[in-house]
Amino acid sequence: MKITNNYTFHGELSVPGDKSISHRGIMFGAISNGMTEITNFLQGADCLSTISCFQKLGVSIENTGSSVLIRGNGLHGLSAPSQVLNVGNSGTTTRLISGILAGQSFETTLDGDHSIRKRPMRRIFTPLSQMGAEFQCWDRDSFPASRKPSDSGCAPFTIHGKCLQGIHYQSPVASAQVKSSVLLAGLYADSKTSVTEPVLSRNHTELMLSAFGAQLTSAGTTVSIEPEPILHGQKIQVPGDISSAAYFIALGLITPHSEILIQNTGINPTRSGILTVALSMGGNVKLLNERLISGEPVADILVKSSSLHGTTIGGNLIPTLIDEIPVIAVMAAFAEGKTVIQNAEELKVKESDRIAVVTENLRAMGGSIVPTEDGMIIEGGKPLHSAHIHTCQDHRIAMAFTVAGLNASGETTLDDKNCADISYPSFYNDILCLAK
Ligand code: S3P
Repeated sequence: MKITNNYTFHGELSVPGDKSISHRGIMFGAISNGMTEITNFLQGADCLSTISCFQKLGVSIENTGSSVLIRGNGLHGLSAPSQVLNVGNSGTTTRLISGILAGQSFETTLDGDHSIRKRPMRRIFTPLSQMGAEFQCWDRDSFPASRKPSDSGCAPFTIHGKCLQGIHYQSPVASAQVKSSVLLAGLYADSKTSVTEPVLSRNHTELMLSAFGAQLTSAGTTVSIEPEPILHGQKIQVPGDISSAAYFIALGLITPHSEILIQNTGINPTRSGILTVALSMGGNVKLLNERLISGEPVADILVKSSSLHGTTIGGNLIPTLIDEIPVIAVMAAFAEGKTVIQNAEELKVKESDRIAVVTENLRAMGGSIVPTEDGMIIEGGKPLHSAHIHTCQDHRIAMAFTVAGLNASGETTLDDKNCADISYPSFYNDILCLAK
């Protein structure tokens, strides 16, 4: 399929399972007693990295494609890996597994791809060190041939697991990865551990760990966990990922004469900011058949072509749509008037610097966008034209600009289409199925 504006989009689809929930299912299953069975698991490269890391820690995991079966080793049943754990492109794998590894009686070395080697890890080293764990980063240019100490604060790094102390951590960032890392370390601590974040981030760890048997209490933006629970394997049905549904929400809204029903999508309020934004831009979006699946709210989302207008996005909303900002920027380019995205400085430390990369690509397509320190300002309504998109191997850039290209004149090309496999391996095929 060529990325041109020759199509309308009609029909129903189910997007793949939620990435955050899939990662957590593997991790929590691995440290529980008994079997965990995950259905609708996201078979994206990031979640496969999590599986492979836990297999190297001695956990038996069978991935049949339609489901994943984990034979849990219990809280203290992981074993020292004989090799470096490769986390690939996955920040979630790196930061969450580090919380678990901080409380082990062995040391583990983590490394990943070019992007992961640039992502900030001090945000987890700081609290996990306060709990007692020790970290050593290695010079990435000479690793693994030699291990030269580095103070990069990035992968590759070694975690020396220790007996941990419970802490109260005031996190400077609203990050579910940081929160989850500290909570997972808290499972191994000598007393209660709590985390306060400036704004509430996604709460899948809290929901799912509680279902496995951990004792967590949440009040406002603080969550506490008691150490040494006995965790029990669960059956988890993963809802569709709203971060993947976001591309079809945008596609349905901005493409004239289109109507898309996205079935079985997670709408957890800590994730559903894209729906709030779509409505505030004048989008015709309806939630049907709302229900709970494995403790997570789920709905079918019906989207119809709409005339969008600009909006302002910031504050508490940002963590609920942080991964959707590239595609929201594309929606804004097709909306009349100005859209301001603020308080989103975290975009700079995602798989790419998403403020810079969105700006570069939207400008290449003729869009009017000004990057700011903590977001971007987009003046919408100017027709876009095709461009060669520099994805920086960032899956969300590839998918967001595919949506833009499907509404731009000429033929848009991407320097790396395949990076969508990180979170959505069937993305292009799913678009093809809806294209008329
Ligand atoms: C995730 C949390 C978010 C998000 C990432 C997945 C998670 O990162 O961007 O794609 O599963 O916890 P931060 O917690 O660093 O904001």
